Amino acid sequence: MHEPSNSTHQSRRDFLRRFSVWAAIGAGVLASISLLRQFIPRLTQYQRRFKIGRVNNFPVNTFTYMADRKLFVYRDHQGIKAVSAICTHLGCVIKKSDEGFQCPCHGSCFNDRGEVLSGAATKDLPWFELKKDVDGQIVVDLGRLVPPEEKLYL
Ligand code: FES
Repeated sequence: MHEPSNSTHQSRRDFLRRFSVWAAIGAGVLASISLLRQFIPRLTQYQRRFKIGRVNNFPVNTFTYMADRKLFVYRDHQGIKAVSAICTHLGCVIKKSDEGFQCPCHGSCFNDRGEVLSGAATKDLPWFELKKDVDGQIVVDLGRLVPPEEKLYL
């Protein structure tokens, strides 16, 4: 019978050593991913809330477009509120129109309350909860929807 040579033993040992190193790395990666997944909802929640500045930055009786947040912020003498500028059809950014808002992509029209008037969109625009932070800045919470008539009273 033929005895395995030293080099065969050596290559088996090398293979097992490499296999155990890669198995340990794989286990470490899986453990890290499961740990990160616990934090991701918290991070997402954090990013859903952001400050947009003080009330006085927004002109009265005007929808102010915030391009970086894709929001329209409306302020009147009583309070302030914010509506999404993302079309509920396929996600294009809407523009202000005489009737309310209009989507340049497929022509959806919404009134000033964000309700669908016509077009491809079938869902109204969402309004978001606003709060005032201790530093006086307005905080938008994209995770909390409110009716169009609700505003943060000044
Ligand atoms: S994306 Fe606005 S109408 Fe289609």
